[in-house]
Amino acid sequence: MKSAMVVGFALAGLVMAGPACASADLAKSSGCMKCHDVEKKKMGPSFKDIAAAQKGKAGAEDAMVAKLAAGKDHAPVKAGEADLKTLAKWILAL
Ligand code: HEC
Repeated sequence: MKSAMVVGFALAGLVMAGPACASADLAKSSGCMKCHDVEKKKMGPSFKDIAAAQKGKAGAEDAMVAKLAAGKDHAPVKAGEADLKTLAKWILAL
């Protein structure tokens, strides 16, 4: 029983780590990490600060995608809309 729970937690950890790493890689390959860091302020605010400010706001994810896709009030980014959606979800969940 106990070992079954340990295996369960280990699996849950793997499932959760998978997408998070993929998104971090996506942020890197999309050039976001030139100006952003998850934890620290660089040229732009840290993704954790952005998440803290926007978490729970209605439509935060769509607004983020729209802002980045338009490159309005933000540096132009080369990520496509589907990637931006993934990134917005990831940032807001940090
Ligand atoms: C050339 C530098 C640069 C790059 C590259 C960059 N950013 Fe930013 N980003 C900034 C700066 C500066 C700000 C703060 C000003 C602002 O809010 O637009 C910012 C703000 C943000 C915000 C907060 C917007 C808001 O409305 O509060 C998000 C989300 C964000 N960036 C995501 C990204 C993502 C995702 C990428 C990669 C696809 C990216 N950024 C690439 C410089 C950059």
